[in-house]
Amino acid sequence: MCGIIGYTGEGEALPVLVEGIRLLSYRGYDSAGVAVERDGALVVEKDKGRIEDLAPSWDRTRLAGRTGIGHTRWATHGRPSRVNAHPQSDAAGDVVVVHNGVLDNDIALREELAAAGVGFVSETDTEVFAHLFARTFRGDPVATARGVLARCHGRFALLFLHRRLPGTLVAVRRGSPLLVGLGRGECLVASDVRALAGRADRVLELEEDEIAVVTPAGATVHAADGRRVTREPKALRYDEASLGRGGFPHWTLKEIHEQPERLADLVAARIDPVHGRVRLDELALSDADLASLDRVDLVGSGTASYAAMFGARAIEALAGLPARMVPGSEYDALPETLGPRRLVVAVSQSGETADTHAAVEAAKAAGARTVGVLNARASRIARSVEGFVDIHAGPEIGVASTKVYTSMLLSLLLLAVRIAEARGRRGALMPLRPGLDALPDAVRRAVAGAPAVKDVAREVHRAQNMLYLGRGPDHATAVEGALKMKEISYIHAEGYAAGEMKHGPIALVSWDVPTVAVMGHGEHRTRMLSNVREVKARDGLVIAVAAEDDADSPKVSDLLVQVPTLHPWIAPIVHVVPLQLLAYEVAKRRGCDIDQPRNLAKSVTVQ
Ligand code: AGP
Repeated sequence: MCGIIGYTGEGEALPVLVEGIRLLSYRGYDSAGVAVERDGALVVEKDKGRIEDLAPSWDRTRLAGRTGIGHTRWATHGRPSRVNAHPQSDAAGDVVVVHNGVLDNDIALREELAAAGVGFVSETDTEVFAHLFARTFRGDPVATARGVLARCHGRFALLFLHRRLPGTLVAVRRGSPLLVGLGRGECLVASDVRALAGRADRVLELEEDEIAVVTPAGATVHAADGRRVTREPKALRYDEASLGRGGFPHWTLKEIHEQPERLADLVAARIDPVHGRVRLDELALSDADLASLDRVDLVGSGTASYAAMFGARAIEALAGLPARMVPGSEYDALPETLGPRRLVVAVSQSGETADTHAAVEAAKAAGARTVGVLNARASRIARSVEGFVDIHAGPEIGVASTKVYTSMLLSLLLLAVRIAEARGRRGALMPLRPGLDALPDAVRRAVAGAPAVKDVAREVHRAQNMLYLGRGPDHATAVEGALKMKEISYIHAEGYAAGEMKHGPIALVSWDVPTVAVMGHGEHRTRMLSNVREVKARDGLVIAVAAEDDADSPKVSDLLVQVPTLHPWIAPIVHVVPLQLLAYEVAKRRGCDIDQPRNLAKSVTVQ
């Protein structure tokens, strides 16, 4: 995923572009660049690296101008480099373009253009758009954009400047979000509302195959057939607090600390206190639909797939309905006919993950019902599914998911209860209510347990490898905890179902391979105690995450992080918090870039 920003107005474009790139850099940050238009000339600065390192060296005199575009990149076609950074341009320098998404037919178009004498300088698909726009341009920006759209397949958002269109931005949306921000005497275009903060007071979201021609006075929007589209812009309100880090050193830490409030909001939004039922008003499936299901497939990627793993177990246990997690990237290869008795639940923070979206499309093609458990309403997965469960986690800027994961778990647990109720298990919510009411405070106490986690971080931060073990609903906790450690500290960490450890991975156990054991409850805890002893018998260092009522785990582990005791189906939501904090503290000791880890992006919009 990449970030696009454009500005045209009465002020200097460069500072707006640099700030916009900074606000969008969570989307991708391996390279950045700007182009400014002045007196019919287009001036470009771009390079590999992060905006905060690049911008100070950019020449403000050379980049003076009141119209410009900017970009922050997560490389898909072509490695991170100056030549592959955006903006991309045509050979004559008449056009510059920035792009988010993928041009599916870039090879065929490259060959066609090369045969016509066009010389390419980059490895990107984006450069094709610049050449097409330049060769199609006869003066009319809408006709030109339509001509480009007609030749291109894929999902992309584009923003063009042409030196013969002074003061004008040409925006095109096909599949990837693009917003037009309207201000006073200035207008912006951006991939995400965050980059409009403080400048635009109204916003127009472009729809599929729409073209916007944007000048300081305003914007005209056109459909793919060229017809003018009139649509009222919406008032743009943004919560300053959610746009700032609120004094925290990293977004990731801020978002870990936000979890109690986010979970409290979710409990309040999702439980009808009068009728004691789960409220999922946008689910789109009736009780009869839910009662007729024969299986639920939960699809997701990365952290979302681990939340889906937990959700599958909860649906099986609480609703008595077969359920499984399938990684989004594997789902469309399944040789199965589905049908309306199969429910496919897409779990996604961004709603833009290509693997998960492909799974939804495959499920719909096979006749299944579809629901999204998502953190983004205006997303392509949200538009693709029938039913919608908003996880209400708010914008998550840290590339490694934290608050979104716990909000996904709670949302999926409540979905499991809703399915159980619809299938005749009317009292399904009752035993969970006390734990749900106690959950926000329990997470608050787990976050406050950071000092004990810092002690653990001091012991393990030099490790090169780690094992994470969990059972039952905490298998997901183990694999998610391991992913956090991988993502932000770059330690090779593997999460396993604890019972599996003795069937091979135990060969890895040694003092310098710390094992994190999520002790769980009841029978799971009893067996975890055996697994911990198997690790200790081989001189393994064990860090136990254990409930306060667990008197045995402290006796068998080397290091201990205690968490409040909760209902076994709610406990995994609090068990993951020390693992999030551990990854954070270790990464800090290792000097890693916590909010924007190397090679990652907030959402992967390519398959
Ligand atoms: C999580 O820490 C990672 N950033 C990554 O695994 C992420 O969960 C995955 O790419 C799915 O993203 P989504 O939830 O936006 O679909």
